Amino acid sequence: MSWPWKTIIEPFRIKSVEAIPLLNRPEREAALREARYNLFKLPASVVTIDMLTDSGTGAMSAAQWEAIMRGDESYAGSRSFYELDAVVKRISGMPEVLPVHQGRAAERILARTMLRDGGLVVSNTHFDTTRANVEQAGAEAMDLPVDQSGDHPFKGDMDLPRLKEILSTREVKLVLMTLTNNAVGGQPVSMANLQAVSALCREAGVPMFMDAARFAENAWFVREREQGWKDHSCEQIARAAFDLCDGLTMSAKKDAIVNIGGLLACRDPELATMFRNQLILGEGFPTYGGLAGRDMAAMAVGLLEALDENYLRYRARSVEHFANALQGAGVPVVTPPGGHAVYLDAGALLSHLKPAELPGVALGNALYLEGGVRGVEIGSLMFDGAPRELLRLAMPRRVYTEAHIHYVVEVAAKVVAQAAEIRPMRIVEAPDFLRHFSAALEPVD
Ligand code: F0G
Repeated sequence: MSWPWKTIIEPFRIKSVEAIPLLNRPEREAALREARYNLFKLPASVVTIDMLTDSGTGAMSAAQWEAIMRGDESYAGSRSFYELDAVVKRISGMPEVLPVHQGRAAERILARTMLRDGGLVVSNTHFDTTRANVEQAGAEAMDLPVDQSGDHPFKGDMDLPRLKEILSTREVKLVLMTLTNNAVGGQPVSMANLQAVSALCREAGVPMFMDAARFAENAWFVREREQGWKDHSCEQIARAAFDLCDGLTMSAKKDAIVNIGGLLACRDPELATMFRNQLILGEGFPTYGGLAGRDMAAMAVGLLEALDENYLRYRARSVEHFANALQGAGVPVVTPPGGHAVYLDAGALLSHLKPAELPGVALGNALYLEGGVRGVEIGSLMFDGAPRELLRLAMPRRVYTEAHIHYVVEVAAKVVAQAAEIRPMRIVEAPDFLRHFSAALEPVD
């Protein structure tokens, strides 16, 4: 329905609640020291507002819990699989649907099947696990995001002139469009860009896949910001985007609002057979793919709830309200805000720190120490040579209220007041890849 009111309300009421941990400062200091200054290593029991990720952290609806109870746990041909299969076919138009336990399982199967002989994958920006899976397969992952300066409404787009050049000079195995573009700030991709990428891929004979983790949020932005789409439903917009692709990978832990799950889908039955052979090796039988029947049942419901316009309006408004309030408190953020998180510009706020001194990590630690707020660094710890030093505060779906958000803004304002005293950080120990998950760090005097 259209919404004539200025106040956008949560389109749900709360039926079941969970207490959140409230700690004092010495307790937080001890916990952070124990975690070797890496927020990934904090037990959730010491985190007050957990904005580490929007992945798998959403609140399921009563309808999803109902579906959970009806889940069919048959090994082969579970009814819950067919329910999911029907919803995915309806939303995406893809005839071949494979459930997997989460997004990176789909990426791994895709990489092991399509990148067996190495080669080049081009994306508007690979998510970190996607890049790691491409590289582990012996292939090269290239990111071609558009220029990120200014307030362009579709900063998630692919740089078309660069793509054209690469397609004409190199052999590209796969083009992968990430919707929304998480690594550059949860920024949406325009339909015009998807259409242009699809045309270039077709001309060059290169398959185009979509990393569809946040496909519904992307559809909302297209409807709101791109000319010609405001009279379409978000489901129609999502379908128009999928229609341009040969296949998709999806972490269902985001827009499908489940705590675990993922999807791999495509049009080509021969490719699907190869995917299924890989799926059996690592995930399970093709009609459950590493999930319980109940997980697939909840996903089928969540995929449709995520496309509800009242939900998406509330979702986009919550993120925008959070970003505006942070800016009001003096925190520089990436604008316009994306769909699932606000990205704090740690490099700008802590301009006394060089990238190698990990300003995103330093800011994340400061927010935790001040008020038990946990975010995630997207900067030089995550990717050596990252273009920007950001701290992402992700918003779990349907979990936190407006007062929780105001609390986080108050905590951030206190950190801003002490910004000049925030110390550099240094890596003490780290593995060779995906080092941000497990690195040990320490503040430098
Ligand atoms: N693609 C994108 C765009 C993602 O954001 C993620 C996960 C994945 C793929 C991998 O999916 O976690 O189900 O295996 N992103 C999470 C995040 C972890 O915090 O942004 P997964």
